[in-house]
Order: sequence, then structure tokens, then C-alpha cells
Amino acid sequence: MKMVTLRIDGKELQVEEGTTILEAAKAGGIDIPTLCHSDRLKPYGACRLCMIEVTKGGRTHLAASCVYEAEDGIVVRTDTEQIRGIRRMIIELLWPSLTDLAKEYGVTASRFWHKNTECNLCGLCVRYCSEIKKLDAVFFKGRGVDRELAIVPELAKECAFCHECHELCTSGWIVTHSDQIFG
Ligand code: FES
Repeated sequence: MKMVTLRIDGKELQVEEGTTILEAAKAGGIDIPTLCHSDRLKPYGACRLCMIEVTKGGRTHLAASCVYEAEDGIVVRTDTEQIRGIRRMIIELLWPSLTDLAKEYGVTASRFWHKNTECNLCGLCVRYCSEIKKLDAVFFKGRGVDRELAIVPELAKECAFCHECHELCTSGWIVTHSDQIFG
């Protein structure tokens, strides 16, 4: 397997080709916050909480570390003021379900209006049901602030006996609303 060498937050790391920046950082003991990522599911790149700054060939750009693969010679920064600003905004958007991160990033209120106040729409349950269970019983309906979790009524019975997505739920919403949504 070909190895690539990169630098993350000043630390030189060597990882296998195909390793994401998120995985490389983790291997190097560097913590990057995530929401829509699970080691059990395919990379998704939806929430952007794992945003990092990549410098390659003299040019710098932002990328989602859970989907961006490590490359030889790139320099990555995971905790700049700009990145913290982006994360703060995402935390506000997902308010109030990310209490620990909100504390870490000094977010005490949100400027955004929320309909869905508890589920943070990370999509882990939806993807688990599709990728692992091959059932597609849980899905998102609506757009923007109206986006919410829904279940295919004909499959609700299966969910009542499964509940495997519960351990992936990042807000606890699906667990507390289980009876209500799955019957
Ligand atoms: S964890 Fe990378 S985009 Fe969500």
C-alpha cells in the first residue's frame, strides 16, 4: 500500500493512500469535531462541522475532512479562527442539540429560527437504515427549516423490533421519540 506524508497542525504524519484527513488526524491524536460521520457508514460530508483548511501547491482552501483524502505534501490546519467561526455558525444552526460543542465554541444562543428543535438532522439513522439494514424505513421529508425525520408507515413495524439506529443518534431525539415515530 502506498503511503503519503502530510502535516496536520504542525505534526508530520504518514498514512496509507486513501485515508481521509479526519482519519489521519485521529491517528495523530488530533481531534476534529464531527456530526454526520460514523466509522460504520460511508463518508457523507453533509454537516461541514469537520471543516479544515488545506494548503496544497501554495493555494489554501477549505474542505470537509471526513471526505477529503490525505495527499503527499499537503499542510492541514484544523483549528483556525475562520474554521472556528464556521463551526460556531453550524452549531447555531443545529441549536440546541449540540450542548457540549456549544460550550466549547462559546455559543450561547442561535440567530436562526428553528422548527425542529431537537433532532439535529445528521442523517446517521437514515443512512444506517439504508446502507446497513437495506430497508430505507427512515427518511427526511421537507426542506430547510421544515426538514424532519419521517418513517415509511408500512415499515414502522420493522422499526419497532430493530432500533439499531438508536446508538448512532447524535442528539438522542430518535430515542426519546421512538414510540411516537415508530409506534
Ligand atoms: S462530519 Fe464531515 S461533513 Fe459531517
